[in-house]
Order: sequence, then structure tokens, then C-alpha cells
Amino acid sequence: GKPVEEWFKDAEGGNLFLQVLREGNPVYRKEARLKIGRKRALLGISISPVRNRWGKLIGVVGTASEISSLKRARIEERIKERLMVMGEIALEVAHEIRGPLYGIQLLVQNLEQFLSLDIPEVRVQLQTLKDTAGRLTQMAGKLLDFGRKRELECRWIDLNQLWKDVVMEMNQALKARDLKVKFKFQELPLVYVDSEQMRMVLLNLLENAIDFSPAGKEILILSGMRQGKQNLRVWTQIRDQGSGIALAEHRKIFNLFYTTKPQGKGSGIGLAICKKVVQEHGGTIRVRKIKGWGGVFEIVLPISLEGENAQDFNS
Ligand SMILES: Nc1ncnc2c1ncn2[C@@H]1O[C@H](COP(=O)(O)OP(=O)(O)OP(=O)(O)O)[C@@H](O)[C@H]1O
Ligand SMILES: [Mg+2]
Repeated sequence: GKPVEEWFKDAEGGNLFLQVLREGNPVYRKEARLKIGRKRALLGISISPVRNRWGKLIGVVGTASEISSLKRARIEERIKERLMVMGEIALEVAHEIRGPLYGIQLLVQNLEQFLSLDIPEVRVQLQTLKDTAGRLTQMAGKLLDFGRKRELECRWIDLNQLWKDVVMEMNQALKARDLKVKFKFQELPLVYVDSEQMRMVLLNLLENAIDFSPAGKEILILSGMRQGKQNLRVWTQIRDQGSGIALAEHRKIFNLFYTTKPQGKGSGIGLAICKKVVQEHGGTIRVRKIKGWGGVFEIVLPISLEGENAQDFNS
């Protein structure tokens, strides 16, 4: 009962019908966006002219099928492939540069002993060299973490305890910025994860929270349980009081090499590692907006991957 144009978000879909009616040529699987209330969908539309037995055009018939999800799956597949290639390149590069970098660091250490450090300029330049080499070594290490292909070595661990260990590890950095960490933990069941890799995830999130917090502020780490669609899941959040992340950045920040840190400071690998590891565990990671807080990252994990698969089979 509705005019055909009204169904479509923009004129293109409706126009298609009119075009076929006017020109008499069929269209096959043209894309058009449909709007029903607040819902949107991408459609593939095929329209054929209908003629009477004298060949006169008397109408059109069309079918439309939803292709949004198909298209999304294809895009995701492509992103996955690209990530795999990037991971391999990253691994290669990191392998190649880590050795020489380590050599440079040793050389600088030796030079320090031979050279007179009384000359301020020499001291400053050597220090710069040491810092730079140190930073590059760290970056190579992160790249290796990202690119490393290995099976998950899972065991049952206490996620709350893992957080505590990670915070302890970063104690120096926290103190240096006068940042306080508070915990708001619920009692959790053990989760079946690769503790080394999950430690890396939490460490990267905490590092970010520290880097993006103004000095003297608070970082809050929370955890809890939630009933997912199919199974029980644990969640954990880290909140800081920095300036947070603009909505437009939410997707980008998980990309490899995306960083807003000043040149030479960040490598943009941390969150790419987080996303990869969490996904390998069947979990999700996302940014949330919570009033009164800046950056908020939330991870949701199944208690075990096996449980996850078993559930999938059952349903
Ligand atoms: N807690 C946070 N608050 C605000 N922005 C953040 C926060 N965490 C991450 N970001 C944004 O996401 C970007 C990517 O983070 P990611 O950890 O991947 O890289 P990085 O911290 O810049 O460098 P790296 O971790 O490799 O040293 C950051 O540069 C920043 O723009
Ligand atoms: Mg980081």
C-alpha cells in the first residue's frame, strides 16, 4: 500500500523500479539501502519488466534479499586475511632488528665506560642513544608478541589475581605518576586461558591507562560475572580518568600501528595484541563510555573455550 520510494532510505531503491518501468530493461542484484523505522538493511534488488502478450510493458516485479550480513562477513574475512599478512611481516621485521638493536645497547654500555662522562654533551647523547635503542627493542618485542603464532597454552587461572600481579609489575610506573589503582572485584570462577598471553593483554591495558592518565588520578579495575546468551561469562573493566576516546576512534584504536601518541613514543601495537588474544580466547574487547571516567576498556570472556564450543554444538 506504500509508494515504492517510501521504503527506501535514499531515492536509489525506489528509482530502480521506476527506471525498469520506464526503460523496460531488467536489473539484477543492485544494492539499495532500506529503512524500516529505525532499522536499516542493505538489499540486493532484482527487478524484471512484465509484458503482456503483445510485448507491451504493463508492470514490474522485483525481489529483494538482505545482503548486509553477507557483505559484513566478507569484509571481516578480508580484514582477517590482511591482519595475518601484517602479523607475518611484523614478525619478520622484529626478528631482523632485535639482534642488532641488542648489539647497539651493549656497545653503548661499553662506550660509557671508556668515554669521559664529564663532558655533558657526551653524556646526554649517549643517554639519548640508550633510550632510543631501548624503545626500539621494546617495540620489536611487542611486534614479536603480536606476530607470534602459537597454540594457546591454557590453564585454569584466577583473573583477579592476574590483575593484581600485573599491577604489582607496573608499580614503579604507577608511583612515578602518582597514580592509585583501586580494585572492585567480584569473586570469579577460574577461567581457562593462556595466562602468559592474557597477562600481556592486561599489561597493555594498564600501560595505556597509565600513559593517558593525568598524574595523581585514579585507575579503577573491576570484574564480575554475566550470563551470556549461551553460557556464563566473566567480564573485567579498566577505567582511567584521562580524556577518554572519541566515538569515531573506537574502532580504529584496535588497528595495528594506530597510535595518537607523539612520534617516537607509541607504536600502536598494544591494543592490536589485546584484540587478537581476546578473540583467540572466544572473548570480546571494547571501549565503553561511563560517566565520570575517561578511557574504559571492557573484556568479556567465556569461562573456557571448550565450554563455548560444546555449547555451540548443543544449540
Ligand atoms: N586509556 C586510554 N585513554 C585514551 N586513549 C587510549 C587509551 N588506550 C588507548 N588509547 C588510544 O588508542 C591508541 C592505540 O593504543 P595502543 O595501546 O594500541 O597503542 P599505543 O599505546 O599508542 O602504543 P603501544 O601500546 O604500542 O606502545 C592510543 O594511541 C590512544 O589513541
Ligand atoms: Mg599502548
